[in-house]
Amino acid sequence: MNITIIGTGYVGLVSGVCYAEIGNDVICVDKDPYKIDLLNKGKVPIYEPGLKELIATNRLGGRLAFTSNLSNAVRHSDIVIIAVGTPPLPSGEANLSYIDQAAIEIAKAMNGYKIITVKSTVPVGTNERLAKLIKSHTNMAFDSISLPEFLREGSAIQDTLYPDRVVIGAECQKAADTMVQLHKPLTQNIVVTDIRSAEMIKYASNAFLATKISFINEIANICEKVGADVTKVAEGMGYDKRIGSSFLKAGIGYGGSCFPKDTSALIQIAGNVDYEFKLLRSVVEVNQDQRFNVIRKLETIFDGELNGTTIAVWGLSFKPNTDDVRESPALEIIQHLVDNGVRVKTYDPVAMESFQSLFGKEGVIWCEDAMEAAQDADALCLLTEWHEFAKVDLHELQKVLKQPILIDGRNVFNEEQVLGTGFIYYSVGRPNLNQGVKEKVPAL
Ligand code: UDX
Repeated sequence: MNITIIGTGYVGLVSGVCYAEIGNDVICVDKDPYKIDLLNKGKVPIYEPGLKELIATNRLGGRLAFTSNLSNAVRHSDIVIIAVGTPPLPSGEANLSYIDQAAIEIAKAMNGYKIITVKSTVPVGTNERLAKLIKSHTNMAFDSISLPEFLREGSAIQDTLYPDRVVIGAECQKAADTMVQLHKPLTQNIVVTDIRSAEMIKYASNAFLATKISFINEIANICEKVGADVTKVAEGMGYDKRIGSSFLKAGIGYGGSCFPKDTSALIQIAGNVDYEFKLLRSVVEVNQDQRFNVIRKLETIFDGELNGTTIAVWGLSFKPNTDDVRESPALEIIQHLVDNGVRVKTYDPVAMESFQSLFGKEGVIWCEDAMEAAQDADALCLLTEWHEFAKVDLHELQKVLKQPILIDGRNVFNEEQVLGTGFIYYSVGRPNLNQGVKEKVPAL
């Protein structure tokens, strides 16, 4: 099939490459000529394992092209997929101005029937509104499809080529059938439904996963008080098929471009129809507070006096295998430390530059590697579970730190590694492992 994708962000670029990989002819469009230029030179504007290689093979195979000429791309294609950003407005609602603009430009470029598909996450009712907007700018026939995206950064290609399910929201059976054909090589689990339900499936899925994370984080906080181990609790819960084992890792809370944005948007969507989504409000509140457990533990260890200390921070991205730092807990944690007179030394394997572009370069010491960041620090906080941190020998680490204090915000280290070292070690929801100044652990 001939496909045009509008927007070369995470969703657009990865989807485009994967549609090409399964044999379609794909043109990826972006307004930003710099991005298109990079892509045409074989470079990739985002960090995503495997993406660069897949782009190269599919460009070479003649199935994938990049352009900023939207009109030509639309005219060349039967299916046009909108994958532009819907960033949050200050109210929490999604900003739909980019998507509206894309719809109008597609309408003006149309030279015949098209299936116009929205992959961007949009509030319920948006596809219907967009269809009216397109109709007001063209006489050509088209059908609207809602095609919510469920890929995760860091495993985006795997998630796209082997999805758990594909959801297709359609009013027209023929257009739905075409979309089913397109996705059949990827999975048997294809849910065809009405457009509004498809839009809701995306928000409900992300809200549910965010709820699982806040739930296990609260269980972890209780585990610390009652002397239970949250990793064992999660394991014991996860074997129950009704619960499932994924998204039960306690830590410092979720970040990223989706969960924080989509939970706020769903609260707002509910509010717009006079429904207060109390459960989801609490999920957001718990998540916001969870990151400060790291600070609370440090404050207890240093008797409330962080001013003048040197704290090392390992990990800046909101999760491993991505350079994305949007809504990363590290942003607020480091800001709090800097505001309280702490000398912060930090290192991340790939997210240093992206972190600096959001946080600024001032006020923090940026290090070349993990050990350099730890050197002479009074304590170390591990905020992202990058593989290279898990491999560190704690005895070697202990030698470079001024004081062997480790706050493991992601439960990276296990009992075998920690016990027997001289570390004052605090993790999340594992009081049996917390050692060193146990009597000082805050009741969380
Ligand atoms: C998420 C959804 O998983 C994906 O389906 C949707 O399309 C986009 O949003 P992503 O934001 O890439 O994907 O990351 P994900 O792997 O879901 O992790 C989100 C956050 O939750 C991370 O900060 C991660 O550290 C945190 N998390 C995840 C936990 O704290 N515990 C867990 O058990 C799982």
